[in-house]
Amino acid sequence: MNTIRLHKEHLQQFISAEELSDIRKEVLAAKQTLVSCTGKGNDFLGWIDLPQDLSPEIIKSIKNDVSALAPKASLFVVIGIGGSYLGARAVIEALQSEFASMENNSHPYVIYAGHTLSEDYYHQLLQMLDTHDYALAVISKSGTTTEPAVAFRIIKAHLEQKYGKSAAAERIIAITDARRGALHDIAKQEGYRSYVIPDNVGGRFSVLTPVGLLPIAMAGYDIEKLIKGACDMREICTTSDTLEENPALMYAAIRNILYRKGRKVEILENFVPNLKYISEWWKQLYGESEGKEGKGILPHSLSFTTDLHSMGQYVQEGERLMFETVISVAQPRHQVTIPSDPQNLDGINYLLGKTLTEINHNAELGTILAHVDGGVPVLRIEIPTVDEYVLGQLIYFFEFACGVSGYMLGVNPFDQPGVEAYKKNMFRLLGKPGYEK
Ligand code: PA5
Repeated sequence: MNTIRLHKEHLQQFISAEELSDIRKEVLAAKQTLVSCTGKGNDFLGWIDLPQDLSPEIIKSIKNDVSALAPKASLFVVIGIGGSYLGARAVIEALQSEFASMENNSHPYVIYAGHTLSEDYYHQLLQMLDTHDYALAVISKSGTTTEPAVAFRIIKAHLEQKYGKSAAAERIIAITDARRGALHDIAKQEGYRSYVIPDNVGGRFSVLTPVGLLPIAMAGYDIEKLIKGACDMREICTTSDTLEENPALMYAAIRNILYRKGRKVEILENFVPNLKYISEWWKQLYGESEGKEGKGILPHSLSFTTDLHSMGQYVQEGERLMFETVISVAQPRHQVTIPSDPQNLDGINYLLGKTLTEINHNAELGTILAHVDGGVPVLRIEIPTVDEYVLGQLIYFFEFACGVSGYMLGVNPFDQPGVEAYKKNMFRLLGKPGYEK
């Protein structure tokens, strides 16, 4: 089966069949609220139909931009923060080699800015940009976020100094609101190539708009396959009312049952380090959507087996406040075999003839069994492999489940009022006009 599947055999001692059957009505009501656009935040539901509604002109235009910029840039800087960069980074890092570098690629190597205010980071970035040809995308839905605005001003100055103002403008793509915001105004005045983030799609749900698609295509990945995966998952998520057949409904049901039983933390885990940024994207998606009104599961993530040697102790024997969701990859993309060694001084000849994936899968199962024994519920999300199609499915699955789960929690999953608090203090401390007191 070329689709993601939920496995809940390791939940049996934590969730009864009655509990699942009792919550079914509530899950379906939340799903109905979502698809009928009658709930809180219903002006931000454009993502539900995005994969199927995406216009072919946008795909064509993205491909044209890739063809125009890829030959003249070994680096592509994505300037954005939160939902304006995490989706692209999640897909790119899932697909690219762990050891990819900026040399000798047919496509630019994507690097990131606008997600930090670290002076050292920008100093190091500029040093690297001194010696490489590059282009950039500046991405901000509001067009007013401080971190990307600061990064863009710094890098734009560097780009203009390096290539001259008009050649620099040809290396800049702006992705922002159709009508409002400083970035919109700058892009218009400077004549940058631009894409619009639809009004009804919030930042953390925007990976299947040019926000995610342009950087992913620039890195050389197949955005049509990504969209196809999302389309196919959309069909399942929006049409099936059977929890056993609709993984998003089942996921929303399971996490809400566990939350109500005191499991306040969900740890998303992988056994494949390329998925680290999928977890970072997921943390924003769920943390920003559900963490409000004093409620919400705290999303956390770990990469195994690496973190078994740092956080494994806590998960096994620490406070029982968590459940785990393991993203389990069925098939690797490449093979590496263990060489034979007749001396067997390292004592691992018992592994001869096994693939690394077989060993890793046994590490995964061994971990799950140990954690269940330790009193931690474990849900397993099996994905067939890591490719564009599967990632498209996974993204849509998590988004849809997030909407359903947020409505079950009773919050508006599509706003983020809490993000403003630090900004007000920062603006006042920095003396921004209008924020003096
Ligand atoms: O999901 C969200 O809306 C936020 O995390 C935003 O993506 C983030 O704050 C960046 O905002 P903007 O794209 O307006 O610069």
